[in-house]
Amino acid sequence: MSESIISVERVTKQVQDSTGVLTILHEIEFALAARQSAAIVGASGSGKSTLLSIIAGLDTPSTGTVRLAGHDLFALGEDARAAVRAAQLGFVFQSFQLLGNLNALENVMLPLELQGRNDARALATEMLRRVGLGERLSHYPKVLSGGEQQRVALARAFVVKPAVLLADEPTGSLDFATGEKVMELMFELNRESGTTLVLVTHDRGIAARCDRQLHIEAGRLVVAEAV
Ligand SMILES: Nc1ncnc2c1ncn2[C@@H]1O[C@H](COP(=O)(O)OP(=O)(O)OP(=O)(O)O)[C@@H](O)[C@H]1O
Ligand SMILES: [Mg+2]
Repeated sequence: MSESIISVERVTKQVQDSTGVLTILHEIEFALAARQSAAIVGASGSGKSTLLSIIAGLDTPSTGTVRLAGHDLFALGEDARAAVRAAQLGFVFQSFQLLGNLNALENVMLPLELQGRNDARALATEMLRRVGLGERLSHYPKVLSGGEQQRVALARAFVVKPAVLLADEPTGSLDFATGEKVMELMFELNRESGTTLVLVTHDRGIAARCDRQLHIEAGRLVVAEAV
């Protein structure tokens, strides 16, 4: 494989609970080249969201290393890690994480504004239109349906054309047709901008469209080969 954009090296995550130490992830190891797409699949509770959060530098591993675009994420301080994240990553959370005091347009403009772009409004409007929310620009998250909130979260992640897009069940709240449209957008971003995709999904069809399928069972990677 050529230069990896993501490299996960022996990542283990343990937490303390009332009964002792719980191992959520056990020595996970894989690497992705730029432009690759990977699906993380596995049963509920197997550790998929935890792994995605660690790759994003939002959660810390107990042991192991994550390299993102050449940066050893957990060797960096909090601020430097946040800067790498802002420069390289789009993240779509399972719970969307929209800012409630900003409307749809403002939520999508935010990452562009953080990059100091002066065309934020036009780009954010266009991206919301592409996810089918051109008529919902000034709606606040609390009046949007679950699927509409998910599409705002996707638009916010897509709009900066990140080097890496991490998405946790990105079509989980969408009807079939809208889900298809959103997936098309994601693979378009992959083709046109070279964005590396890492998707957690329960949808076999989506998993099959990815270059790689990473199967997690009870915190262990059981298959990690090219398909
Ligand atoms: N901070 C924590 N403390 C204790 N247990 C945790 C913590 N975070 C996650 N877990 C446990 O670790 C396991 C993996 O959680 P995770 O959210 O990664 O699963 P998942 O594969 O994303 O599941 P789903 O498909 O339901 O979203 C679960 O059993 C969860 O209860
Ligand atoms: Mg999850």
